[in-house]
Amino acid sequence: MLDRLANVFGARVPEVAGAALIFIFGLTFWLGTRYAEQAEWVRHSLQVEMKLSGIYALLKDAELGQRSYILTGEADFLQPFLRAKTELPDEISELKALLSDNEEQFEAFKEAVPIIERRLAYAEETISVRRQQGFDAAQARVLQRYGLKVTEELRDRFQALRTVEHGLLEKREADMLRTVNVLAVAVMMAFLMTLLALSAWIFRTRRDTADIATANKLLQETIADRDVAEMQIRQMQKVEAVGQLTGGIAHDFNNMLAVIMSGIGLAQKRLQRGQDGAEEFLNGALDGANRAATLVKRLLAFSRQQPLAPKAIDANKFVAGISELISRALGEMIQMETILGGGLWLTHVDPVQLENSILNLCVNARDAMPDGGCLTVETANCHLDDRYARLHPGIPAGQYVLIAVTDTGTGMSTDILHKAFDPFFTTKDATKGTGLGLSQVYGFVKQSGGHVKIYSEIGQGSTVKIYLPRHYAVEAERHDVVVHEVIRAKGAETVLLVEDDVRVLELTTASLRELGYTVLVAGGAKDALAQLDSDVEIDLLLTDIVMPEMNGRKLADAAEKLRPGLKVIFMTGFTKNAVVHNGVLDPGVNFLAKPFSLEELSAKICEVLETERA
Ligand SMILES: Nc1ncnc2c1ncn2[C@@H]1O[C@H](COP(=O)(O)OP(=O)(O)OP(=O)(O)O)[C@@H](O)[C@H]1O
Ligand SMILES: [Mg+2]
Repeated sequence: MLDRLANVFGARVPEVAGAALIFIFGLTFWLGTRYAEQAEWVRHSLQVEMKLSGIYALLKDAELGQRSYILTGEADFLQPFLRAKTELPDEISELKALLSDNEEQFEAFKEAVPIIERRLAYAEETISVRRQQGFDAAQARVLQRYGLKVTEELRDRFQALRTVEHGLLEKREADMLRTVNVLAVAVMMAFLMTLLALSAWIFRTRRDTADIATANKLLQETIADRDVAEMQIRQMQKVEAVGQLTGGIAHDFNNMLAVIMSGIGLAQKRLQRGQDGAEEFLNGALDGANRAATLVKRLLAFSRQQPLAPKAIDANKFVAGISELISRALGEMIQMETILGGGLWLTHVDPVQLENSILNLCVNARDAMPDGGCLTVETANCHLDDRYARLHPGIPAGQYVLIAVTDTGTGMSTDILHKAFDPFFTTKDATKGTGLGLSQVYGFVKQSGGHVKIYSEIGQGSTVKIYLPRHYAVEAERHDVVVHEVIRAKGAETVLLVEDDVRVLELTTASLRELGYTVLVAGGAKDALAQLDSDVEIDLLLTDIVMPEMNGRKLADAAEKLRPGLKVIFMTGFTKNAVVHNGVLDPGVNFLAKPFSLEELSAKICEVLETERA
């Protein structure tokens, strides 16, 4: 029932209850006024009755006074008569006024008035006879029974008047009682209505609360379902990404291994037959190996695991320094422009990787402008605000140095834009791109605490923006573009090479000898320490980091005690090790990532020995 009521009233239960209350108040007020009017009429009827009784009593007094005087002849006994005579005119006119609202009663009383006057006149007459002619004469007049007749007529008239008035009074009292009853019923109804409305409202509120709770539960379940579905999709995407990644790695490595294996195989055959031309095949194999090494570096960059050696960098000087290199990479069809922001802040990143990233972006821009165009490299100070940070989770708001590379090339579709940072995603043919350029840039920038964003418009061109966190240092460190070339040993420096992998030990020894160094070899830390503890001259310790008995870092510490100031170069293929923490090299550490070319080995050793001499 409450349910239906709630439905009928809908959400308007409070309004309905309010309206019912107003109606009931109105009704009560109206009934109250009516009751007051009716009570007035009842009072009026009572007044009329009292007046009638009063006049009748005065007439009786007059009669009493008349009779007593006739009997006694004493003037004192006349008092009731005299008082009635004086008061009656006023009483009569008052009653007339009271009856003016009721024509019938008014007329009936009007007819009674001459009879009253007649009765008074008769009394006066008998009193006067008694006074002047004595008792007998008066008695004789009384015995004529005129007075008795008039008195009886008056009694009848007054009786009739009273009966009518009493009837009126009873009717008015009944009306009043009815009003009181209606009033009581109305109040009762009001109370019930309010109670009902209130109950309906409470019921509806409770039901709505229950409905909301059910809807909420349903929503929670839907959210949970969606979360599960999203998780499954993410998982699928992850599997897909891993598939794409491993597929890409396998494909590229197989190609490179094929080049290396067939190059070495062919060279071996030529050498066995004593034929010329083996070098050509070996060069091919070396090229394949170099490409494989580069691939690993790019993969590490993407996975943010490359060891970084950050330095305070002034991006303006940096861009100016590599613009020559960029121009060369772009070719003559493309015009290059640099816009360098004034008062540029410093940033703190690995210069080699930054150079790599900018070059990657420029090469992409070049590829997007096969018919030529314009490339702009721009720098600026930039503040990423809270709103930007909210819209790009994982990017803290703050001050950044912006390096933007813009081209007027083909632009990217939304689909390509979404995948551009995926490793091995490329739209270029196999000879032109591996699809690791942007993923490498992304990995490096993220590892450096920055942010990359691409804006692109099909047919208009693209802008890739790199945001690097501001660095609060006084001055930038100098960074020269690294140009690798084979530098032979200046003197006959001695290098102590420590490496637990026999093959790597043999090949590195051969490389060092090729570069003109005297090489002492050790298969582990114990062996190395024994040699360091001897009188043999050693200029440089070149040690692997990850070794079974004692790691390279500890070996270097022990060597420092035996030979203070000894120069050390660490080498490893692992990215998490004793000298690289959170992807950043320990300060003052010389590091050579495996695999390295002869050129890289030579450059590193020269750099370290040079600083020693300086
Ligand atoms: N400036 C650009 N204009 C148009 N498309 C671009 C631009 N930069 C990147 N792309 C698109 O994004 C894809 C991925 O770029 P990415 O640099 O990661 O790989 P790649 O250039 O194809 O290969 P790699 O850089 O390894 O030689 C490109 O193949 C190209 O489709
Ligand atoms: Mg690229």
